[in-house]
Amino acid sequence: MRDSKKLAFIISSVISISQIVNALDNGLGLTPPMGWNSWNAYGCKINADAVKDNANKLISLGLDKIGYTYVIIDDCWMMKDRDANGHLLHDNSKFPGGMRPMSSFLHDNNLKLGLYESAGAQTCQGGAGSLGFETADAGDFAMVKIDYLKYDNCHNENIPALKRFTDMQLALNASGRQIYYSISNSGNEDVWTWAKKIANSWRTTTSIDNSFTSVKYNFITNNKYADFAGVGGWNDPDVLVIGNGQLTISESRTQFALWCFVKAPLILGNDLINMSPEVLAIISNKNLIAINQDSSGNIGSCVMNCQNDLQVYQVMNLDGGVYFGILVVNWNNDEMDSVLLDFVTMGIAGNPYYNCQVSDLWTGTLVGTFKRTYLVKDVLPHDNKALKIKCLPWGQEFPSADQKHKFQFPWENHHTQNEFLN
Ligand SMILES: *[C@@H]1O[C@H](CO)[C@@H](O)[C@H](O)[C@H]1NC(C)=O
Repeated sequence: MRDSKKLAFIISSVISISQIVNALDNGLGLTPPMGWNSWNAYGCKINADAVKDNANKLISLGLDKIGYTYVIIDDCWMMKDRDANGHLLHDNSKFPGGMRPMSSFLHDNNLKLGLYESAGAQTCQGGAGSLGFETADAGDFAMVKIDYLKYDNCHNENIPALKRFTDMQLALNASGRQIYYSISNSGNEDVWTWAKKIANSWRTTTSIDNSFTSVKYNFITNNKYADFAGVGGWNDPDVLVIGNGQLTISESRTQFALWCFVKAPLILGNDLINMSPEVLAIISNKNLIAINQDSSGNIGSCVMNCQNDLQVYQVMNLDGGVYFGILVVNWNNDEMDSVLLDFVTMGIAGNPYYNCQVSDLWTGTLVGTFKRTYLVKDVLPHDNKALKIKCLPWGQEFPSADQKHKFQFPWENHHTQNEFLN
């Protein structure tokens, strides 16, 4: 990398911090949202008991403590007709007593409630839509104390998206309640070019399915619009499909690491009650979550082999002192591959004499201290290596690793994990 390119990388890291100025001013989305959405596991068969069971699971597994706090009820919670005064009606057979008891239950447990609606005459599944009823609906959302709105695009009657999605933003603002606003219009009408002023995140692509092909497609498409995302407003390549029974463990690790590196919303979609320990370990990796939740809002970008199967992504993070995340992804279906990282050309080390500490983000272990280069060996097909790299000029000492655990999972043995963060 030439100096001008190195400089460009540093400048772009700074710009993404300053982009906050143009973001929606509702105080939310300072880091990507984390939580669970009902759609992939339940579809229209969602009800209050299923929501509570999954919320309780977030708590008993300790997932709430590491950030998974939004519990989002997708389509099918509402009736197809409104009441005589034009207000939405919840489906009382599924949610007895409505959403007020649900928000109380979640808030009492330090969780947050998300609801789904559509910027159309009907929702995708035929429930009453919010088009033309934005003020009444936003007022009702605030009254039952929701914290997040996923706003879809079905039955939109060909009214321009900018108008429909702005009308809801204005109504949410007028409601006086802080509600995270997630636009879900599948990347139509170049949403990334206008959404940051009105929303906290916006879907950049069509819906993800459970295949690795879909994970790759949504990720690569999403990252074309990296320049539009940052603190307060995020590109959304759609939910995590880990644990839905189709991705392999390697592929699950790759979706999670990719989503973390590009500051995508981390919204689980699996049945939390029947989650395997392997899946749980992936979605609760604290070192990768730290990158996703880094206060810089920096979006990881491809820096090497971008047209090849073994792509290298890089992101600079600020929390706990400046460090770089490096993600080497092997998209190849069959073959292992290796790549040599050169910290100087990558702009990670100021000169060849810097000492660079390399740690494995997946295991939390320190690999060693290297000068100038590090060989990332044997990345398995559809898998990845995720590294934390911290470089210091020759002669400067690394601070000794902080042994204190910030948070202990219920299933974790205090003595097995080598912490290197901080
Ligand atoms: C409404 O918008 C104003 C102006 O951008 C902002 O200061 C305020 O915090 C917003 N209120 C809510 C509830 O989002």
